[in-house]
Amino acid sequence: MSKFVVTGGAGFIGSSVVRALLKDGAPRVTVIDNLLSGKLENLDEVKDRVDFHLADIRRYDEIRPLLEGAGAVFHLAAIPSVPRSIKDPVPSHEVNVDGTFQLLRAVSDAGVRRVVYAASSSAYGDTEVLPKVETMAPNPQSPYAAQKLFGEYYCRVFSKCFNLETVALRYFNVYGPRQDPSSPYSGVLSIFMRCVVERRSPTIFGDGEQSRDFTYVEDVAALTVRAAVKGVSGRVYNAGNGNRYTLNEIWKLVQGLEGVSLPASYGPPREGDVRHSQADTAAAARDLGHSPRFSIEEGLKRTLHWYKEQSVAA
Ligand code: UD1
Repeated sequence: MSKFVVTGGAGFIGSSVVRALLKDGAPRVTVIDNLLSGKLENLDEVKDRVDFHLADIRRYDEIRPLLEGAGAVFHLAAIPSVPRSIKDPVPSHEVNVDGTFQLLRAVSDAGVRRVVYAASSSAYGDTEVLPKVETMAPNPQSPYAAQKLFGEYYCRVFSKCFNLETVALRYFNVYGPRQDPSSPYSGVLSIFMRCVVERRSPTIFGDGEQSRDFTYVEDVAALTVRAAVKGVSGRVYNAGNGNRYTLNEIWKLVQGLEGVSLPASYGPPREGDVRHSQADTAAAARDLGHSPRFSIEEGLKRTLHWYKEQSVAA
């Protein structure tokens, strides 16, 4: 059985990939995380089957030995958030671009065959046509989008020049249990969940008619694990649901689950925001056999359940 490594494995999505690998039969999973935003508690349920290493992907010498003997590396370590990358672009550039380069170099030098890279739907920017297909020209609108796109290019270059099999998955607005709502840069659904649990109104940036393809974390993790297969090296795939909901619709759905009415406040539109986002999922279905399991209603229900449990435990 191969050794699997997950960078960012203590994070919201990374820890879900760890659980998916274990569920899929991996006896153990190696996690590399600097705990900048990741949390060990995200791995609590599976900690007996995780080899955790506090290490930073920007430091080649730190990560190179940890990759020895790995069959596949899932690269999720990143500093996310479009607005954070506009306010303070240096840290996210260093992690998302330089860190990705160091990781790919270390993986390649360690003789690992395969990398699955967590790319972002933000690479598309605003497109005239929806849904967004992998063949469209990228149009990044923020440092974060450019950084994640650069990571894709580096993956492709490592496939071509350094004999490494790489595949990039463009994650579309992932949500679910363990997403941290505590920062102003947190994903909107984690913020909405906290608001509804605390019976507060959220602030919606702009008119709320912007839309997103909200994708449940377990669907994204399942696709990520599936993508570590032969025959797709150098390719990019959308990791989305294929639907889109406006923020106004989503906030209504969240309130409906709790049977409350908490009208949102509205603030100015956010810089760097994409207006609409929706994935074409045909390529991932065709080449990777992916079919998302969670409807938005089911995903929101499970997510809300988790946030309510957290608030009781607190
Ligand atoms: C973008 C990417 C996504 C990526 C994520 C990483 C796109 C379309 N999506 O997400 O694939 O995983 O970055 O960070 O580029 N909002 C509010 N109120 C809030 C918070 C947010 O109205 O309190 C709005 C934002 O202005 C935005 C939407 O909600 O219109 C979603 O924001 P967010 O959850 O931060 O994700 P994106 O920036 O869309």
